[in-house]
Amino acid sequence: MNSGGKNLILNSWTLDINIVHHAQKMHDLTSQLKKDGRSIGFVPTMGALHAGHISLIEKAKAENDIVICSIFVNPTQFNDLKDLENYPRMPEADIAFLKSAGCNLVFLPTPAEIYPNGPELLDISFGFMEETMEGAFRPGHFKGVATVVNRLFEIVQPTNSYFGEKDFQQLAIIRKMVALLNHSTNIIGCPTLRESDGLAMSSRNMLLTAEQRKSAPLIYKAMETAKEFIPHQSPAAVIELVKRYIQKSSYLSVQYFQLVNPDTLEDIKNWEEGKPVQGCIAVLTEGPRLIDNIRYE
Ligand code: PAF
Repeated sequence: MNSGGKNLILNSWTLDINIVHHAQKMHDLTSQLKKDGRSIGFVPTMGALHAGHISLIEKAKAENDIVICSIFVNPTQFNDLKDLENYPRMPEADIAFLKSAGCNLVFLPTPAEIYPNGPELLDISFGFMEETMEGAFRPGHFKGVATVVNRLFEIVQPTNSYFGEKDFQQLAIIRKMVALLNHSTNIIGCPTLRESDGLAMSSRNMLLTAEQRKSAPLIYKAMETAKEFIPHQSPAAVIELVKRYIQKSSYLSVQYFQLVNPDTLEDIKNWEEGKPVQGCIAVLTEGPRLIDNIRYE
């Protein structure tokens, strides 16, 4: 691993990937890069990278001079200690993956670098947006996400920041945080990458047993099949159909499936001509909890 000085990194960024552990060093580097007029594309992650992350890196690479990826399993966004402990960690494999994708800099901080005064949460309210869906089952989760992303933006000072649409509610919260705190970075949402059987790519998929993995594609299949019933059936009836389709597997249990306005995340009661609807779902297995979403135009 190379965590050498600023000049070394600035001179060699085209040659090899560089790893930075310290927040101040990363901030100094990005300040210098920005002074030099280089645009910075940023992909924040919690590691255990898969092809979905790599597609974000590739997009960032196509649209910016420098690509920075952070790997930090953020403790403040886990409301379940077991989930935090079980979260897959594989920094060496991640770095090799990032290297082959052409990422220039990896930010790999310790919790003390991110939270020098302890894990203080950002004091802003997202109201209903942080209480519905994921927020209802993972209290405090989005405060933790907003806190870490805000801190990462302060350190990395990205021109453009890339997030997967798989975490649809997270993306909406981050957009709101950026507007409320006047961050100058552009937030770019990127389409969900799927396995060939439709399962949304996720770091948590590697925690599925063989039986759970076999059943998991039912989640997207159910949401896709629902298209046939829109707008002939009411939103409430479509929700029931999707839930029943998935409950056919004894390995899956739907925690919620909601049809919401993509901007406000408010539940919709009726279909309205020309107004897209987002279907958002969380499914429990005896192992990892899976989320996904779909756009109904
Ligand atoms: O989506 C994720 O991996 C995380 O929630 C993020 C945005 C990196 C913040 O920790």
